Amino acid sequence: MAPDAAPPGRRRRPDRVAAVVVCLPGLEALVAAELEALGIRSRPAGTGALAARLTDRQLYDANVRLATATRILVEAGELTARTFASLEERIDAVELAPYLDRSRPVRFRITSHRSKLHHTGAIEERLRRLLALGPPPGAADARGTDPAQLVVVRVDRDRLTVRVDSSGAPLHHRGWRGPAGKAPLRETLAAAALAAVGWTPDQALVDPFAGSGTIPIEAARRAAGIAPGADRPFALERWPSFAPGTWASVQAAVRDDRADEGEAPVAPIVARDRDAGAVAAMTENAARAGVAPRIDVGEGSVSALVAPDGPPGWIISNPPWGGRLAAGRAGDVRDVYARLGHVVADRFPGWGLALLVPDVRLAHAAGLRGEPVWRSRAGSTPVHLMARPPG
Ligand SMILES: C[S@@+](CC[C@H](N)C(=O)[O-])C[C@H]1O[C@@H](n2cnc3c(N)ncnc32)[C@H](O)[C@@H]1O
Repeated sequence: MAPDAAPPGRRRRPDRVAAVVVCLPGLEALVAAELEALGIRSRPAGTGALAARLTDRQLYDANVRLATATRILVEAGELTARTFASLEERIDAVELAPYLDRSRPVRFRITSHRSKLHHTGAIEERLRRLLALGPPPGAADARGTDPAQLVVVRVDRDRLTVRVDSSGAPLHHRGWRGPAGKAPLRETLAAAALAAVGWTPDQALVDPFAGSGTIPIEAARRAAGIAPGADRPFALERWPSFAPGTWASVQAAVRDDRADEGEAPVAPIVARDRDAGAVAAMTENAARAGVAPRIDVGEGSVSALVAPDGPPGWIISNPPWGGRLAAGRAGDVRDVYARLGHVVADRFPGWGLALLVPDVRLAHAAGLRGEPVWRSRAGSTPVHLMARPPG
């Protein structure tokens, strides 16, 4: 037998796997651009999804380096079934062996549309039995930083597709977050704001409502050449098909890109918040993220905000919203935006302004006009990016 041939009875894994890169709705174009920068061609695959064919190296690279994607699923098989009997007959089309660490529980996420097999509980029960997967995980194994292996099943017009999650915890878990603050922004949305406005590390960045520090930390890590997933584990590391040599070479490239922790930043990154608890949280998070020396953290209200020395850059922020609006105190919140608008007009001539808001009318109160750069949604909360470039 040739050294690279599969053992009898086992199919040889193809050189490339069909993958779906999942993201928040509205971020597809940003994820496609990131993939392209990694040399990976993708095509749209519906809302919040891009399809691509990936080598092992590309799969590892994409998991570690994508800043705006949520997870990467790998296709493990596809079949047509209108009854459980035909599902049973054709189950050989699903090849989970390369992906499942048998010591870990498996959790399913199943959707079914326009199909005879529509009861997702019954589909899961059948798949568990046919694929010898054991019982569902307990609540503790379902989420967190080291969740059970996720298998995503989509049944559409009787076509059943089984995909295995290669990421583990969603990719917005960068591995540095300690204190969450009051309303932390997802790291993927912070990255999507930085990418969409075209911020580069040679431009100054100010976040007057920094909370737990997500936007300045995301920016500082980019400036320091730290790949988004450099400090976290991935589900694929436990797969039987895991290629340690390829992984080591991806990790070595990631380490090479990383600047020394003490290296001085090229342009200032300023993070302010009026809440002492938020300042303590962002200070701890910046240290955990390895970028404390790169961020000028301080306590202060937006009314006291002043521009750092040097050429104009960007104010990028996620000002207060959510609960207070829902509680009918929209006026209070709009006042904060109006104050920000005045501060920017008076003290930040020539600076760009980008705000992440649930309602574009809040951004209007800060003087931003026009259409959102992108519209997304985190859970049930809409998030719009409104921006005006420097100049
Ligand atoms: C939506 S949170 C920001 C969350 C942040 N992006 C994160 O990821 O943690 C808004 C922040 O604005 C702060 N804030 C509210 N009013 C402020 C004001 N007038 N000046 C400065 N900060 C203020 C709050 O303390 C809160 O931390």
